[in-house]
Amino acid sequence: MGRRKNQARPAGSDSWNPVADWYTGWVGAEGSEHHRRVAIPALLELLLPARGEQVLDVGCGPGVLAPHVAGAGARYTGVDASRRLLEFARRHHAAHGRFVQGDATKLQEIGELQAGAFDAAVFLLSIQDIDPLEDALAAAAWAVRPGGRVVLLMTHPCFRIPRQSGWGWDRQRKLQYRRVDRYLTRLAVPMKSYGAARHGFTRSYHRPLGAYVNGLAACGLRVDGIHEIPTHKSPEPGPHARAERLATREIPLFLGLRAVKEEGR
Ligand SMILES: C[S@@+](CC[C@H](N)C(=O)[O-])C[C@H]1O[C@@H](n2cnc3c(N)ncnc32)[C@H](O)[C@@H]1O
Repeated sequence: MGRRKNQARPAGSDSWNPVADWYTGWVGAEGSEHHRRVAIPALLELLLPARGEQVLDVGCGPGVLAPHVAGAGARYTGVDASRRLLEFARRHHAAHGRFVQGDATKLQEIGELQAGAFDAAVFLLSIQDIDPLEDALAAAAWAVRPGGRVVLLMTHPCFRIPRQSGWGWDRQRKLQYRRVDRYLTRLAVPMKSYGAARHGFTRSYHRPLGAYVNGLAACGLRVDGIHEIPTHKSPEPGPHARAERLATREIPLFLGLRAVKEEGR
């Protein structure tokens, strides 16, 4: 799948520095409501961290996953490009693991990490902020041992495409539907700048589902689990509440994928 020239340019792997205050203000040390109610439980269900395992959290940001991994008795390493997010992570989660600065697409160049040293690598709501996808997957495959796993937890690429999807109301059929305007083309969508200063922006990278599954397979990572997750949000009371409830139960807005690194790779 080709990329358009103007879509290939990343916003910069440290582009999260200027939005760090906004992001940590929203997410906090324990994670946003999305994290706590949907993303973290779904990721843990796929990861199943075991006592003594080494877990690498790629694009860890403020490190909200660290206490959960440490709580399972596993050892946690978070890696992120943003110095400011890592400062926050260390301030709140130093007791739960270690945090390393570096580029997720070049883990091989980070001195503190070794090939095959991890039982699992996870991307908690980060893979869609990291580009190029194939380099990030290859780097994760490098970091995990044969038989180890890679878990991706992301917004569902089939149903939740930044600026290209949304809910609609079908008056005749009295149902809420999901509208998808674009899907197959890869997109690099600039996200609005946040916070009081409103400087800096990040990019969200849309890729179709096949890019993830084929990208994993290309580095010897065989998908063995998929979790399609609806949002936790209940509809506001009103005339459309029943239809809204049905639609939000039926259309998953989050996706989890687990892949296992083939032996001998
Ligand atoms: C949406 S945040 C998610 C952070 C965290 N996993 C969470 O759930 O709160 C995306 C993270 O990806 C990081 N990131 C983006 N590109 C990166 C890269 N090339 N290398 C390392 N981290 C990167 C950003 O710095 C940011 O912390």
